[in-house]
Formats: sequence, C-alpha cells, structure tokens
Amino acid sequence: MRLKDKICAITGAGKGIGRKGAELFAKEGAFVYILELDEKGGQEAEEAIRKAGGKAKFLKTDVSSYESVGESFRIIGEENDGKMDVLYNNASVYLNGRDGILTEIAPEVWQKVLGINLNSIFNCCHHAIPMMQKNRRGAIINTASSAGVIGIPKCDAYTATKGATVSLTRSLAVEYGKYGIRTNCIAPAAIATDMVKQSNPDGPDFDAFTFLHLRTPVRRWGTPEEVARLALFLASEDSSYVNGAIITADGGITICGDLARAVEEKL
Ligand SMILES: NC(=O)c1ccc[n+]([C@@H]2O[C@H](COP(=O)([O-])OP(=O)(O)OC[C@H]3O[C@@H](n4cnc5c(N)ncnc54)[C@H](O)[C@@H]3O)[C@@H](O)[C@H]2O)c1
Repeated sequence: MRLKDKICAITGAGKGIGRKGAELFAKEGAFVYILELDEKGGQEAEEAIRKAGGKAKFLKTDVSSYESVGESFRIIGEENDGKMDVLYNNASVYLNGRDGILTEIAPEVWQKVLGINLNSIFNCCHHAIPMMQKNRRGAIINTASSAGVIGIPKCDAYTATKGATVSLTRSLAVEYGKYGIRTNCIAPAAIATDMVKQSNPDGPDFDAFTFLHLRTPVRRWGTPEEVARLALFLASEDSSYVNGAIITADGGITICGDLARAVEEKL
C-alpha cells in the first residue's frame, strides 16, 4: 500500500497508460481522480477500480481548458479539505495525418496539440501546486516521449510539446522543491496503446517487425503496466530523493546505437 490514503489526480486515465496507472495507484491505497474527456472511458475506469475494491472518481475534464480543469480541482479540494498529494499529467494526443512537418501543419492543429499536450500541464499545475504548497508535500509526474529526448520527424507539434514538457519538468523541480514538491517526467516510447497505433500506423509503409528490430533493443512493445509501475515509483516515497528526473520507458529506443548492425543482419 505505497499510496495509502493519498489523493491522486491522473489526466487521460480513461484508457491506455493512464488507465493502468489509475488502477495501480488505487490498488496501492490511493483515492484516484480520473480527469478524462471521454465519458465512456472515464466511467469504465472508475467502475473497474471500484469493482476491484479501490477508490476512484471520474470527473469529466477537458485538460486543455483552464476552466474545466479549475472546476475539477475545486471539487477535489472541497472533497479532501484542500489535500492533493499526486498530480500525474498523462493526457495527450497524437494527431496522425494532421500533425507533420512544420510548414504543413494547419495553425488550428498546432494550437490544438499545444492545448491538450502542454497547456494541460500549466492548467493542472496552476491549480494543484497551491494545494500541495499548503501541505508542503507533493509529487508531480509529467509525461513526455522519446520525441522530447531525440529528434522524431513528421510530428512537429507533438515533439514541440514533449520537448517543452521535459524543460518545464526541470524548472518546476527547481522552483517547487523547497516546498517538498518533487516533479519528475516519464518519457515513454513504443508502448502498446491506441496512441502507438496512431503514431506507427499499419499503413503500407509500416512493418512492426522491422520497427522493433531496428529501433528497440529489447525487441518488443512495452506495456501500459510497465509505465504505470514507473509512475508508482515516482508517486511514492520510494523516489523521495528523485526530483527533476527525465526517465525513459522505451526498451532502450532513445539510446539505441545498433541500427547499422540491424541493417547488416538484413532484417
Ligand atoms: N503509447 C506510447 O508509445 C507513447 C509514446 C510516447 C509518449 N506517450 C505518452 O504517454 C501518455 C499516454 O499515452 P497513451 O498511449 O496511453 O495514449 P492514449 O491515446 O491511449 O490515451 C490518452 C488518453 O487521454 C485522453 N485525452 C485526450 N484528450 C484529452 C483532453 N483534452 N482532456 C482529457 N483527457 C484527454 C484520451 O481520451 C485517452 O483516454 C501521453 O502523454 C503520450 O504522449 C505514449
């Protein structure tokens, strides 16, 4: 029970990595607020956690809206005497076919991706940090991507938000550490979710076998559970001296130097 009685908010917890995080946090004793735009996913996540004996509540939230996020944190504050222990900024979109190289991105697509992937972190932190400051403790987990660590082509809006997430993690860690608030960042890649299908579409050019062999030293997709376990570490006292870290969960994709060897092996 590493998160016993902790109040946690996880964005985009209706499916994928966020959903597994919500389930694991609840299993470890947390009360999990599911801040999710998709009603079906949010309700299903809440029901599954309750059915398993955990504590959770779905609050329909558009993380790109300051007002919507504000309303959700107002409710969380009211229900818990202003207590807020863990904020897990997980929600994002990858707009396959609309994101791309900079000169081909429509301005409204650029704004939409920045709104959901980056402004969401501002919106949530703006409400959650003052609650954490009052209690002089808290853990913030941001979610970047391999795209925030290495150059990834043809998704410039997405990569811009993930690079900013890495930088913002460091500045938050420096600024708010003195209040007992630790801020860290997970940078996943190749995790088997709907998003990875978006970013690696099963189109005529995509060959999963070659992708895994050329890019991933461990030669397999990661699972949402594997990222959730890392999030649990960052949320709990197990990581009490970890602050400002950018931790990859990518099977080694971002440090992979064996491309030439893989080609030589004639995959
Ligand atoms: N899957 C991967 O391989 C991978 C790789 C790199 C980074 N990531 C990052 O991990 C995180 C989770 O990714 P995933 O693969 O689980 O994605 P996913 O698409 O499976 O789930 C994203 C969730 O966010 C929610 N969401 C979208 N817009 C929202 C909004 N405006 N307000 C509230 N909720 C909203 C969706 O409804 C969904 O439940 C994201 O930040 C993503 O960028 C994932």
